[in-house]
Amino acid sequence: MLSIVILAAGQGIRMRSQVPKVMHLLAGRTLLEHVYIAASRLRSRRIHVVYGSGGDQVPKAHPGLDVSWVEQRRQLGTGHAVMQVIDDIPANDTVMVLYGDVPLITFETLDQLEEAARESDLCLLTSMLDDPHGYGRILRNDRGGILGIVEEKDASDAEREICEVNTGMMAVRSRLLKHWLGNLGTHNAQGEFYLTDIVRMAVDEEAVINSTSADSPTEVHGVNTKAQLAELERYYQLIQAHQLMSQGVTLRDPARFDMRGDLEVGSDVVIDVNVVIEGSVSIGNNVQIGPNCLIRDADIGDDVQIFANSVIDNAVIGARGRIGPFSRIRPHTRLSEGVHVGNFVELKNAEVGEDGRINHLSYVGDAEIGRAANIGAGTITCNFDGANKHKTIIGDDVFVGSDTQLVAPVRVGDGATIGAGTTVTRDVEAGALAISRVEQRAVKGWKRPKKQ
Ligand code: UD1
Ligand code: MG
Repeated sequence: MLSIVILAAGQGIRMRSQVPKVMHLLAGRTLLEHVYIAASRLRSRRIHVVYGSGGDQVPKAHPGLDVSWVEQRRQLGTGHAVMQVIDDIPANDTVMVLYGDVPLITFETLDQLEEAARESDLCLLTSMLDDPHGYGRILRNDRGGILGIVEEKDASDAEREICEVNTGMMAVRSRLLKHWLGNLGTHNAQGEFYLTDIVRMAVDEEAVINSTSADSPTEVHGVNTKAQLAELERYYQLIQAHQLMSQGVTLRDPARFDMRGDLEVGSDVVIDVNVVIEGSVSIGNNVQIGPNCLIRDADIGDDVQIFANSVIDNAVIGARGRIGPFSRIRPHTRLSEGVHVGNFVELKNAEVGEDGRINHLSYVGDAEIGRAANIGAGTITCNFDGANKHKTIIGDDVFVGSDTQLVAPVRVGDGATIGAGTTVTRDVEAGALAISRVEQRAVKGWKRPKKQ
């Protein structure tokens, strides 16, 4: 069996934040979730997370993770962190140690590490870096066998030329790990229990040491500062953008696309610049999304066109819909097929039947609108009486004239017409015309006031 230990107890002082480091977000997920997602794809494993800084904030922020949480009350180093959990791990397991602040590690690399660990007592994940500054270097003999790790501070000039670095991640036989942890001391610059010191012990005891290397150096980059977080975010966004393009999505500029969640996408989808996708979004075939749109937790049907500067949040947009520019579709809105929603229209908890039109400057909230209804410019559903929300129900083929207020709760029957400027306070029968207007009068020869 494989036991995975994710170290996540550090505060991350250089983040300059009250939030524990592993709770910072990268592409909409916490750093810890990224590591968890990669680790949880490994077969027959148990995952332990060592948390500490910020108290139970970290476990509370991750109720969905299938892990056992282990508290490290004081952060006395990476070796000390692993000591907190080692007694819960069966002696015959292999223990894989991962870092909660190294978010882009991939399943493929972990799988490779697990595989390589089968033939060894201790297997290190290393990486070749163009600039290895700050990392521990891997020392090898003529035949490539690992001799040890030398930390930057202790390295000779020749050793500093070595570009193969220790990522800190490793897989170790549980029984040996426990034995080595028991011998760790704190005689080092930081006075901490360094997990990495077990490598020297393994060399001394002539244990079988092996290593495997991550494909991309970025996979093993840790997040210590906001600048590093931003760097990894951009890198990850580009990977996602390229994955979407390989599925056939047209991105006008992959450097100006952000996905913070999951996107399921059909064919011939075109996405213009500065579009942000959040949560869980599905997009059908032949969909076009204009610049500067935010789409969160939404289901977008086939042949939909979303024009610039629209926000869609927790909504369903039926096939052939046209949204925006400048539309705001708020939660629990469901548009049937062929609905057009235009500029400066806000919809909230609204259902709109097939071929409905709400083209200009309207607020429609807590409403049910039938098929082929036309909602004129400046229509407002007055859904809130100051204490409670009420519903507006509009039938099929209703024509609502411009600048109408519908004071909910109210119903308008099928085929009814509402004259422009009407305040609808009572139900309107099917087929009727409702109009409430002060009659127009004309004052002939009216003289405008003159400036004195
Ligand atoms: C560590 C390695 C170093 C490696 C580098 C790669 C050691 C001694 N050094 O250094 O060789 O090149 O990572 O990124 O292991 N943590 C705890 N409890 C603690 C201390 C740390 O859970 O008491 C966690 C942190 O939250 C973090 C991880 O362990 O997720 C790494 O700790 P950090 O202090 O950042 O180690 P580095 O100095 O980066
Ligand atoms: Mg670190």
